[in-house]
Amino acid sequence: MEQAGWSQVDAYLEGRLLPPDPILEEVLRESERAGLPAIQVSALQGRLLGLFAEAIGARAILEIGTLAGYSAIWMARSLPPGGRVLTLEVDPLHARVARENFRRAGVDDRVRLRLGPALESLRALQAEAAGPFDLVFLDADKESYTEYLEAALELTHPGSLLVADNVVWEGEVVAPESPDPRVQGIRRFLDRLSREPRLTATAMQTVGNKGHDGFLLARVLPAR
Ligand code: SAH
Ligand code: DHB
Ligand code: MG
Repeated sequence: MEQAGWSQVDAYLEGRLLPPDPILEEVLRESERAGLPAIQVSALQGRLLGLFAEAIGARAILEIGTLAGYSAIWMARSLPPGGRVLTLEVDPLHARVARENFRRAGVDDRVRLRLGPALESLRALQAEAAGPFDLVFLDADKESYTEYLEAALELTHPGSLLVADNVVWEGEVVAPESPDPRVQGIRRFLDRLSREPRLTATAMQTVGNKGHDGFLLARVLPAR
């Protein structure tokens, strides 16, 4: 089975498992209308992020890479009363579209967006002693995943869950000589993870309407 088949299966599962969602459909239409690339998580993956948030009772969620706010909206919907999503985005157009989408989806009371290079925002958050965050979703530029991981470790607590998108990249992740800096970024991130005693991690390959990719899942271990 190839891409068309995987997309058909995603559509089937979505039809069975997720209620129709005119608001999220509008969010995606607005994103497209503004010319943003359609590289957000799938609906099934968005719900997975929400299920993770619910399962660990996340009250403070950090996202690195907002785009049009689609994944942030899925996570915001899974917050308990008083919970917060903070999402980091460098592109002013993406940020504007995302803020409109947060209003559209009725989550603008729970979601804050910080505009600027994520590394700078993360340093500022550390300086402000923000956090700790219960869940971190890593989905911005792949070249900086290692630095985002290091910052995330300073902004979490034992038990926090870290999710990273795009760790398979159509299987290219296994190519040590790949000329693609994104692939090299993911490989450096995985090398760093392999030497990180504070985390226990796994990864799941995914296929669906986003092609062949994968989620990295890591949990911060109890201090020792
Ligand atoms: N999480 C989103 C998709 C994010 S796409 C969703 O699933 O709905 C990646 C986003 O990261 C893009 O919007 C891009 O502009 C942003 N990005 C890229 N480099 C960045 C950086 N250095 N700092 C912050 N955001 C960055
Ligand atoms: C692409 C996909 C992503 O999920 C992402 O975060 C960035 C880029 C892509 O397919 O180009
Ligand atoms: Mg992604």
